[in-house]
Amino acid sequence: MDAYEAMRTLRAVRRLRPDPVPAAVLRRVLEAATWAPTGGNVQPWRIVVVTERDTKTALARLYAARWTRYATGHRQLVATAPDTARDRAERMLRAGDYLARHFAEVPVHLVVCFNPEHMAITDAALPRVSVVGGASIYPAVQNLLLACRVEGLGCVLTTLLCECEADVRTLLDIPQPWATAAVVPIGYPLLRGHGPISRRGVEKLVYGERWGRALA
Ligand SMILES: Cc1cc2nc3c(=O)[nH]c(=O)nc-3n(C[C@H](O)[C@H](O)[C@H](O)COP(=O)(O)O)c2cc1C
Repeated sequence: MDAYEAMRTLRAVRRLRPDPVPAAVLRRVLEAATWAPTGGNVQPWRIVVVTERDTKTALARLYAARWTRYATGHRQLVATAPDTARDRAERMLRAGDYLARHFAEVPVHLVVCFNPEHMAITDAALPRVSVVGGASIYPAVQNLLLACRVEGLGCVLTTLLCECEADVRTLLDIPQPWATAAVVPIGYPLLRGHGPISRRGVEKLVYGERWGRALA
């Protein structure tokens, strides 16, 4: 599979089989994460690989509470949307419901942590939400998602557990000032797994020379 094919078919896969992920496969996925760029090449992220059942059960409890709240809000939001949009949202929400119900059975959760003190955050002083710090973390996450795609593993980037970072910190012995950026459940897909994605195209998202001007 070439890189374009992997990117074009990397969709969220939330229905995962409980079968274990072979150590060599997991190792390749984690190695792909280490190849990502980071500001100053500092690599201010770490991953805690969670496979123990009790830990996954504790994470599952935390996740389910947040997912239920999110899904309820989202279902209300799309209740009056056109049929196609509502159907698409409902498909996503049903897959999310499945993940939330089976979070403890997912074979591996990758808990992505970062150290805010080891990052040069060039937009930290601006009067808006800061995003630059994330640029030293999420490329590694994207690398591991792509590696999962190539390995035939389902995966999805989740961030709901960041809301209860204190609980996750205690559970996994994450020291201060390390914080959490994502949890990526991975496992072999129950259904078709990765496949075609629906995204806005270049014409909608990219400008030429000036904001709002069509790209030649
Ligand atoms: C920043 C971010 C946070 C996300 N958080 C969650 C999450 O907590 N739970 C979840 O099921 N999916 C989560 N997702 C997955 C998105 O819902 C998914 O990528 C999007 O709906 C597109 O779906 P598709 O890739 O299947 O087309 C997140 C994705 C991103 C990029």
